[in-house]
Amino acid sequence: MKLIVAGATGFVGGEIIRLALRNKSITSVVALARKEVPVPKHAGTEADTSKLKTVVLEDWEKTYPEHVIQQLSGADACVWALAVTPTKSKDANFEDVTKICYDYTINGLKNMTSVANKPFRFVYTSGVTVERDQTKALPFLHDYRLMRGRVENAILEFAKQTPAVEVAITKPGGIEGPGHPKNDAMTSVWTQFGPTPWVHLSELAAAMIEQAVSGVSKETLWGNDLVEIGSRVLKKDDYVPME
Ligand SMILES: NC(=O)c1ccc[n+]([C@@H]2O[C@H](COP(=O)([O-])OP(=O)(O)OC[C@H]3O[C@@H](n4cnc5c(N)ncnc54)[C@H](OP(=O)(O)O)[C@@H]3O)[C@@H](O)[C@H]2O)c1
Repeated sequence: MKLIVAGATGFVGGEIIRLALRNKSITSVVALARKEVPVPKHAGTEADTSKLKTVVLEDWEKTYPEHVIQQLSGADACVWALAVTPTKSKDANFEDVTKICYDYTINGLKNMTSVANKPFRFVYTSGVTVERDQTKALPFLHDYRLMRGRVENAILEFAKQTPAVEVAITKPGGIEGPGHPKNDAMTSVWTQFGPTPWVHLSELAAAMIEQAVSGVSKETLWGNDLVEIGSRVLKKDDYVPME
């Protein structure tokens, strides 16, 4: 199968690439990015790095150019991990953050669907604090969390209108990985949103890949779902070293 990864240069997307290169069900990994995506560190001897191809996209808001569309054609799934995170959004203009988080995602979904195989699985990375109910008053990051909720709503609506598209929205709390250790302050924040405050980076990535390869088991995947799926499908030596 052919997998597209958006956000491949990031913390989550990089791990998606690393595990996708090790996954024998995936024959082609297209990293859609604004710069060349390197073969990840710790890919390991089980990785087939020849499967990785970067496709550089310059304008993420318009209809994708023909040479990009050609490379995305025949894809079976996309894992979308491209966004401005809450922490990074604090130093950015909210209109730009909205453009990147909302417009790029929905435009990407539409462009990919037009040339993808059927069914096309779109596995989206969101977060546990993201709120779909636009009437809620939120005590912190109000505008950002509602804006990301609108992205989730638009993805779900698109799938409802487009039977050939299956979507899974992942809503992890904290993601524990190299350079991102668990910490008590964030544990108390994430615990307010559910019983599974942390997911390991490799388990999140493996769970997303599993949804892309084997089909969507649940439209909304919370921390406990991601830990259950990820830990079930990963072998011990698939986990990224925590250095
Ligand atoms: N990290 C966490 O603990 C955590 C927890 C819960 C949920 N999440 C969610 O997981 C997702 C991924 O987070 P992350 O931690 O992997 O973020 P990240 O490391 O900051 O990666 C963000 C990715 O988005 C791309 N991107 C950002 N702005 C772009 C632009 N203007 N044009 C093109 N690409 C752009 C980046 O590409 P460049 O390298 O080109 O900038 C990078 O590949 C987000 O939705 C986040 O909210 C993260």
